[in-house]
Amino acid sequence: MDGMTPFRQLEESLNSASAARTAAQRSNLLPVTAAGYMSWRERSLTLLTGSAFPLSRETQLFLRLCRPAAGQAWLDVGTSGGYYAGLLAGAGAHVIACDLSPAMLRVAQRRESSPLIEWALLNGEATGLPDASLDGVTVGATLNETHDPRALLREAARLLRPGGQLWVMYLARNGGPWQELLSRLGGLTFLDPAQVREVLPGLERTDLLRMRDVVFERHVQSR
Ligand SMILES: C[S@@+](CC[C@H](N)C(=O)[O-])C[C@H]1O[C@@H](n2cnc3c(N)ncnc32)[C@H](O)[C@@H]1O
Repeated sequence: MDGMTPFRQLEESLNSASAARTAAQRSNLLPVTAAGYMSWRERSLTLLTGSAFPLSRETQLFLRLCRPAAGQAWLDVGTSGGYYAGLLAGAGAHVIACDLSPAMLRVAQRRESSPLIEWALLNGEATGLPDASLDGVTVGATLNETHDPRALLREAARLLRPGGQLWVMYLARNGGPWQELLSRLGGLTFLDPAQVREVLPGLERTDLLRMRDVVFERHVQSR
């Protein structure tokens, strides 16, 4: 694969999702979607929040609240262009950056060259990674696109060691017609913060920031 490191791949984990991919998940398999993703990502939060929200602002928010540290082990679920994986590796953490889309992983691998990142073709709803093996998990907007967001959150909670952190960024339910249409046509899911919390009984929500429908949350696994 162009001299790049091959992805880690757990067939069992991928197969469990293949029968039930959402339209959004399938669209992310296309090389054209992968090629254009980061330029959308750089502008998306400004459009969705209605205020200036470049990636640098999200970076500051994440690093200030989560403080990833050298030597820690993190998982970035649905890494796409590798944005969160790059931040984590920049802080010295080891990262498994997973996605269902080989095209996304190829783009991400070109953008982020840190040896601290392991690129993995894995389903975030069933990673096959060991219980309590991670210091942190990031889920940047993957919650809206995955087939079963509750399964994805439960999987993240399973992977966290006591005191481990979960960072989630997602579009919350607003009950409007656009979200209704996106759910019907794209298979997207919009949870609200109370529904996210319900799925994570063993975690404490330490931070919640909502700007229009864009929500950032930090949760910590109980000790
Ligand atoms: C909205 S993008 C997320 C972008 C990225 N986290 C960020 O913050 O820039 C969603 C990504 O999640 C991937 N994805 C969707 N469902 C997934 C799953 N169950 N497991 C792993 N990746 C998934 C898609 O292929 C896509 O690349």
